[in-house]
This record gives sequence, C-alpha cells and structure tokens, in this order.
Amino acid sequence: MVNPSFLANTLNMNPKNLSICVLGLGEIGSSALDYIRDKQLNVFGYDINPEVVQKTKEKGILAFSEWNDVPDANIYIICVATWNKNGEPDLTPVFDVSKKIAQKANNGILVSIESTIVPGTSRKVHSSILKGVELVHVPHRFWNEAPVEHGVRQLRVIGSVDAESMESGRIFYGDILGIPLSETASIEIAEICKVSENAYRYVQIAFAEELRMICEDLGLNFQEVRKACNTKWNVEILDARDGIGGKCLPKDRRNLASLSKYNTLLTASKTVDTLYREWLKKK
Ligand SMILES: NC(=O)c1ccc[n+]([C@@H]2O[C@H](COP(=O)([O-])OP(=O)(O)OC[C@H]3O[C@@H](n4cnc5c(N)ncnc54)[C@H](O)[C@@H]3O)[C@@H](O)[C@H]2O)c1
Repeated sequence: MVNPSFLANTLNMNPKNLSICVLGLGEIGSSALDYIRDKQLNVFGYDINPEVVQKTKEKGILAFSEWNDVPDANIYIICVATWNKNGEPDLTPVFDVSKKIAQKANNGILVSIESTIVPGTSRKVHSSILKGVELVHVPHRFWNEAPVEHGVRQLRVIGSVDAESMESGRIFYGDILGIPLSETASIEIAEICKVSENAYRYVQIAFAEELRMICEDLGLNFQEVRKACNTKWNVEILDARDGIGGKCLPKDRRNLASLSKYNTLLTASKTVDTLYREWLKKK
C-alpha cells in the first residue's frame, strides 16, 4: 500500500496555488519556464548567470541569480547544464543546485531532474542530499529546430525513486502540465534512456559518414545510394553533412562510452567522425 504522495495531498488545493521553481534557464530551462507560465501557473526561475536571469525578467517572468532571494517552492525542476570532462560525466551543476534546494526543504516537495544525467545520479542525489523529498527524472527530448512539436510537450519518459514520487510526477507532468508520459521500470532506466537516444543518433550519423566515404571512393553518388537503400521498409540511412556537432550528441556518446568497457562501437563512431571531417577538408 503506497502512502498518498505529497502532491496528491497538496492537490486538495488548487494547482494555481502551487509554486514552481525552474533551476537553470538555458535552452531547456527557459522552454520549461515558458510552457509552465503559459499554463497560468506560479513559476519563477534561478540561474547562476545574471545575463540569462535578466533575459527571463524581460519576458515578464520572476527570476533570480542569488539563491537567498529565491522564494520557497513546492516543485523544483532542475534544468542545469551537464557535461563530459576528460572522458567522464561531469554533473556538478545538478549536485550544486540539489544542495541549494536542500537548504530550503528536505520533505514535502517534488524535485524533478530534467537535465541529462547518467544511471545512479538520481539515487545518489536522493540518498546523500535530498533524502526526504519526492524525486523523479523526466529527461528532455527538446529539439530547437521544432520547439513546439518536439519541445516540452511530447512523449517523455519518467522514472522515480519510489512509488509516491511517481504519483506526484504523474499528477504534475500528466494531469497539470498535460505532458504524455511513459513510465520506466526504474529511475536508472530513465537515466540511461536519454543518453542512449543521443548516442544512438551519433552512431547512426557516423554510419552515414562512413558510407558516404565508401561511396565516393567507389565513384558512386552517396545521395543516390542512400535514396535506394531507404526504399526498404526497415532501413533509414541518415544524411552525412559537416560532422557530428551540437552540445548533446558528442557529450552523451562520451558519457555512455564511459559507463562500461563494452564501448567498441561508441568509440569507433568517434574515430569515423574524425576521419570524415579530415576527408571533407581534403575534398
Ligand atoms: N538543448 C537541448 O536541445 C537539450 C535537449 C535535451 C536535453 N538537454 C540537456 O538539458 C540540460 C541543459 O541543457 P541546455 O541546452 O538548456 O543548456 P544551456 O547551456 O543552454 O543552459 C544551462 C544553464 O544552466 C546554468 N547553470 C549551470 N550551472 C549552474 C548552477 N550550478 N546553478 C544554476 N544554474 C546553472 C547555466 O548558466 C545555463 O544558463 C543538459 O543536461 C543537456 O544535456 C538539452
């Protein structure tokens, strides 16, 4: 028997009385903030970068760069940057803001990590910093070229540290924000899901890059080869353009590769992309 979650209890009150704090106001944090504001909910933001905070304020949304000024909230959404440094995941900002949230409350709140993290992060945050809180991980699938169709409101996976957290997550994301959810069997699955999606895309592009080099080596037109292959029902070869860039794909390939010794394909795909970039320069 699961105890009613914090949000199930709180929602005897009007959702409009909830206060929601988004931490990290970059590409995904600002999109989350705008989306929640458009639902007429009480939302404000926090970021260590005063320039980003200023931009948020210019949209008419309350935002702070000093943690002491941030009002207490019922729900905290973590959207801060995460990196890979020297081949290892660097999730320092997630731990940093979790410690800040813990200064305000250690129970009776829902914390959602939307930043991309690696398996074990959420439970580590929960067991060492935010012990009594309800905690979910709802990674973003935001794509800035189609921010409405592939923005905040699209099918998202959700994992939780316990059943009460899942209930609150369902109420907040599903019922209040209207975001379709796919619940994962464990929070670690939600964590590895996002990193794997990006690493998979990286490998798919690397395949296209290698095929393009093979085709041109043989005097064949890559686009025509691709078009022909893609007539088969289960084949979708991607395009090969300027090399694999952006903030997320390279980082998440490296983070996934760092988790296990079984990373031959992930490592080789980076070699292919490096070779491909050199090949492009010589063309
Ligand atoms: N941009 C995307 O398309 C996308 C898509 C899916 C997932 N993600 C993931 O979302 C997370 C954020 O990505 P983004 O693109 O919004 O990054 P971003 O660089 O645009 O923004 C990150 C923000 O976090 C702030 N920040 C960093 N450390 C902080 C701290 N200690 N306290 C408070 N604020 C801090 C920065 O000042 C910055 O404004 C990353 O984990 C990324 O992998 C991004």
